[in-house]
Amino acid sequence: MMSVGLTEAEVAAIDQPVATAAALPNRAYMNDDFFAFERKQLFAKTWVCIGTGASIPNRGDVRPVSWLGAPLVMARDHEDGIVVFHNVCRHRGNELVWGPGNAGGAIRCPYHSWTYGFDGELRATPHVGGVGIHHLDSIDKANCGLVGARSAVWLDQVFVNISGDAPSFEAFAAPLQARIDRLASTEDMARL
Ligand code: FES
Repeated sequence: MMSVGLTEAEVAAIDQPVATAAALPNRAYMNDDFFAFERKQLFAKTWVCIGTGASIPNRGDVRPVSWLGAPLVMARDHEDGIVVFHNVCRHRGNELVWGPGNAGGAIRCPYHSWTYGFDGELRATPHVGGVGIHHLDSIDKANCGLVGARSAVWLDQVFVNISGDAPSFEAFAAPLQARIDRLASTEDMARL
């Protein structure tokens, strides 16, 4: 079976000076299997920008994001920090946040109202045992919090690393940060 990714010959043809380099083969743009391969082997393992802090300006703001088909939700917590969770309720897997808005003090699932703090902790399970019964010993709230996505905010851009094991964001951004620092110092010099 032919590999979904690039062959060694294709990589060699691409990895040339710009004037003579080949482009990616058509299937890199058209083939669903290639896209799935790319998503798993490339994008999931690195840092990817999913939005901006400016799009959730107020404490309690939430914004769902489809990350290459995976449901995530960005939120601004009550300490003004930005957090990212998988946008999936731990009860029956319902999508928690359906549109951008302000969740107030907590994120509440629209299905059966399980309610989570902005730290992801499951806070309430109303009527989980029947009308008026809000607690069941069989449900361990400590193990039913939202699943967080590894995230970082840089220049107001929100990045996630879905695999959770990419190098640190600081290492990832260091080359670009160094260029920005050089540019800033050049502009500072020009102002003197
Ligand atoms: S699916 Fe979310 S509370 Fe039931």
